[in-house]
Amino acid sequence: MRLDRFLSNFPRFSRQDSRQLISAGRLRVDGAIVRDPRFEVREFQRVQLDDELLQAGRSAQYWMLHKPVGVVSATCHDEHRTVLDLLDEADKRDLHLAGRLDLNTSGLLLITNDGRWSRRITQPQQRKPKVYLVGTEQAITEEYAEVFERGLYFAYEDLTTLPARLEVLGSHCARLTLYEGRYHQVKRMFGHFRNRVVTLHRESMGEIHLDPQLAPGQYRSLSAAEIASV
Ligand code: URA
Repeated sequence: MRLDRFLSNFPRFSRQDSRQLISAGRLRVDGAIVRDPRFEVREFQRVQLDDELLQAGRSAQYWMLHKPVGVVSATCHDEHRTVLDLLDEADKRDLHLAGRLDLNTSGLLLITNDGRWSRRITQPQQRKPKVYLVGTEQAITEEYAEVFERGLYFAYEDLTTLPARLEVLGSHCARLTLYEGRYHQVKRMFGHFRNRVVTLHRESMGEIHLDPQLAPGQYRSLSAAEIASV
């Protein structure tokens, strides 16, 4: 939220007080004086008025998890273990998933408490590639790549999928790159050919690749470069 709005949300500061305090150089965000009332303050930033702390700033968390098959992509569930159960971290309450995977899908899952960041990687408008390794029941024919490139009509959402790239790796195996993440999208796309997906594994999202050092169920924090790539 804008710095002037952030300040005037405190009952003791009117809008005019807020503007005056800011232009007098009395506000500091993460230690630096900010004089622009339009400056966007984030929940992760430390905000001070002179020496008084107005917002301590939560620490932002960014994790990559190698999701195993059989663990549900949710923060709580009655029946199955959840991906959050795999995180051995004290402060898990604020975390959410940046894009889900089905129960029987494995691979890269991103977990964070930064809603703006997760929207940037998941929203279809951002066109971030999501790469999947797909194993199928029936053979994959040449026609698939052309149909996926053209887009498929999903009646339920009344939309046509964005052009997707298919690289056939074997008779029953392919790498599929999507630029959006619709519900059960990969399975529905192969379902168009009545071909059941038997194994599905996400390799990457945007420029973030699943770390080959992570065994299923293991996780690590994202590097500064991975966070900044989104
Ligand atoms: N598409 C699917 O069908 N399932 C997933 O888990 C991810 C993409």
